[in-house]
Amino acid sequence: MKLADYKATLSFSNGNPSIEMPVYQGSIGPDVVDIRKLYAQTGKFTYDPGFLSTAACQSAITYIDGDKGELLYRGHPIEQLATQCDFLETCHLLLYGNLPNAEQKAKLEGRVTNHTMVNEQMQFFLRGFRRDAHPMAIMTGLVGALSSFYHDSTDINNPEHRDISAIRLIAKMPTLVAMSYKYSVGQPMIYPQNDLSYAGNFLRMMFATPCAPYKVNPVIERALDRIFILHADHEQNASTSTVRLCGSSGTNPFAAIAAGVACLWGPAHGGANEACLNMLEDIQANGGVAKVGEFMEKVKDKSSGVKLMGFGHRVYKNFDPRAKLMQETCKEVLAELGLENDPLFKLALALEKIALEDDYFVSRKLYPNVDYYSGIVQRAIGIPVKLFTGIFALARTVGWIAQLNEMIGDPEYKIGRPRQLFTGSERRDVLPIASR
Ligand code: CMC
Repeated sequence: MKLADYKATLSFSNGNPSIEMPVYQGSIGPDVVDIRKLYAQTGKFTYDPGFLSTAACQSAITYIDGDKGELLYRGHPIEQLATQCDFLETCHLLLYGNLPNAEQKAKLEGRVTNHTMVNEQMQFFLRGFRRDAHPMAIMTGLVGALSSFYHDSTDINNPEHRDISAIRLIAKMPTLVAMSYKYSVGQPMIYPQNDLSYAGNFLRMMFATPCAPYKVNPVIERALDRIFILHADHEQNASTSTVRLCGSSGTNPFAAIAAGVACLWGPAHGGANEACLNMLEDIQANGGVAKVGEFMEKVKDKSSGVKLMGFGHRVYKNFDPRAKLMQETCKEVLAELGLENDPLFKLALALEKIALEDDYFVSRKLYPNVDYYSGIVQRAIGIPVKLFTGIFALARTVGWIAQLNEMIGDPEYKIGRPRQLFTGSERRDVLPIASR
């Protein structure tokens, strides 16, 4: 860590002496107060459940300006990446720090392509699951199980192991997600075809059958590639922090990424796209656009427990830039598939319009997030609702692994070990059972 840019003084009202703490400036974004010596100097911890004000690491990968609604991967605006680059270029950027030149791009494509197959034994793991298992339950299991196949790349402290496991994970996630889908519908698994693009290969593994040739639709291929780019990283969110914390114990990369998959599953995080689509289908089934006003009243009534899924974000207090790009993609995909009058899209637009004008949402700075439109796009493509979060996990794997590798390479990293404000019982003795 660099030397302090300036200092902060912490004083106490109970007569304890004040202390000085170093403050560091990042390249952009809020400065941070270094509290690492606080306990040693004062015997006190800080208290910040939910990490509302705590930077848990230093990172040079992704930057979000929540007030501006800006998202940068290694300095590049998401709008430029989504319109001028493809997903594997974005992977290169996140993993290695820069967009690739033509030679580097071809090299990465070659490496990823070479690792798209999974060990045939994985099929037997898959068969142990119920056919109706949630794909995220399957993914958590399968990703963790990868570590049992790659004993040659499980040493997180070895940079070569980290690099090859990054490539393996990025290459194999689409295969695993498609396998879990094919299993759920009882169709034979389709092996990867390496002359296709990353997104094209995934579409074929999902929707081809051995009985007929499959042609990748370039509009859908591009839309899916954009979904992957938009979900590739998002700085220190819950699943990424989970991956970092899990990896900080020195566990292998496959195990750490499996922990990220498990965290992503929750409806407040990656599960929101599934929850959002279910919400739209529910409103549609109960009266559609005519009922949006009634639904919004429920959302605003805190006692109902109903949220407008796909709205709100811990960091964005303005439009999530990914939501704007996703809305564009949504229009393109619906037009390509002749679904311009899709009732769920109309419903989503109607809800968004009300929310953007309603004081409840305006005063709380609640705007659409990436999940608001991504479900409609995925559903139009033919991806089942239960698989949405699996697609998110596939795309986020590169971000997880880039962040994990950054952490391991950071000389200041330590095993993550949060402290607590203890509110339980003081020491007490165990009574004999007859006297309790
Ligand atoms: N619908 C209705 N009210 C909301 C919503 C919503 N979607 N989101 C936040 N609020 C209200 C919340 O009740 C609170 O009101 P009050 O100040 O009166 O108590 C206020 O807005 C602030 O919300 P919060 O829950 O304190 O904010 P948070 O930063 O803890 O939560 C969030 C962020 C994303 C979990 C939350 O906005 C939410 O649950 N949204 C719906 C789920 C969702 O779309 N999640 C996807 C996030 S983006 C994809 C990803 O990164 O995984």
